[in-house]
Amino acid sequence: VFHHPAFDDHERVVFVADSKSGLRAMIAVHRCGPRNAMGGTRMREYALEADGIGDALRLSQTMTYKSALAGLPFGGGKAVIFGDSGRDKTPELLHAMGSAIDRLGGHFVTGEDVGISVDDVALMRENTPHVLGGEGVDSAQPAAAGVLASIQAAAERVWGTSDLSGRIIAVQGLGKVGYWLTRMLAEAGARLLVADIRPDAVRRVVREFDAQEVSSDDILTQPTDVFAPCALGDVLTPATVPRLKAKVVAGAANNQLSAPIVGALLRDAGILYAPDFIANGGGLINNAALLDGYDRTRVLQDCARIGHTLTEVFELADKNNTSTNTAAAQLARQRTQNL
Ligand code: NAI
Repeated sequence: VFHHPAFDDHERVVFVADSKSGLRAMIAVHRCGPRNAMGGTRMREYALEADGIGDALRLSQTMTYKSALAGLPFGGGKAVIFGDSGRDKTPELLHAMGSAIDRLGGHFVTGEDVGISVDDVALMRENTPHVLGGEGVDSAQPAAAGVLASIQAAAERVWGTSDLSGRIIAVQGLGKVGYWLTRMLAEAGARLLVADIRPDAVRRVVREFDAQEVSSDDILTQPTDVFAPCALGDVLTPATVPRLKAKVVAGAANNQLSAPIVGALLRDAGILYAPDFIANGGGLINNAALLDGYDRTRVLQDCARIGHTLTEVFELADKNNTSTNTAAAQLARQRTQNL
């Protein structure tokens, strides 16, 4: 861990072991921020422990950037539980994780992530108040509202208008966020091409929004104006970028770029990329609001402001002749200098 390039930049890295429950975990606090560090807890079996350590260090830094660019007073953190969430997850293990989070005294506030559900968070809550989730306030609609604002900001940049009527937009992944996004895009007058590996999810948006179904294998290469990845990460790679025909990529999925260099490939290909950790900031905006007397209208207004931040990033990228993801990281570092 001491040799990981991101280690030195962290305020606090905690390893957790509990022999009774078998818990082995790591909590990485990149920045505490004026309030505390926020970030999910994920559970995964990594091929190498170093991969899990790298994940926690990298993702906690991304959370600091995400929070700063969403205008929130939080730093970034991330917890990783080492293990198979299907095989190794027990109530005892989750209680032990709750106690470990509690020992940080509120420096780190966490919630669900890959391998950790709302129900798991509820078990952690039995041992600590420093968890969010399961309050019955869904983050998918705010997340989609942020993606819509991102697509509009990118459209303004590329076509000189944020009006989406008649634009052809491909949405990959019609889950919680993808469903809301297709709904908002249909209301904005866009023509939708959609794909999901779940036929029921596709049927629903085809029926409700007159969307056109495309196979999951082909959605990325459709001749569209916008491609919106709302399923998995790593969809933009040196192999897929040359096959993209959209002029804009903006979606909710986390970690869309397989490596930072892919941002430069997108730029060279003349494709405007809305960095994922800005475009999907609506989820975090929603969760942060749970700490301060939740107001849905205000949350949705804050999500719409994501478009202004993106415009700033697009301008910075042009000024410095860099990719949008590099410009976004630069802007985030500026904003977190005093954290
Ligand atoms: P979800 O699990 O509800 O939806 C994902 C959908 O993608 C599912 O319907 C799944 O069948 C589909 N899918 C999986 N592989 C696919 C493939 N190869 N091709 C097409 N479709 C595929 O997840 P949710 O909550 O909608 O999140 C979507 C993405 O946005 C994830 O990457 C998530 O990390 C990210 N995100 C979600 C936020 C939230 O508030 N829910 C907030 C910020 C980011």
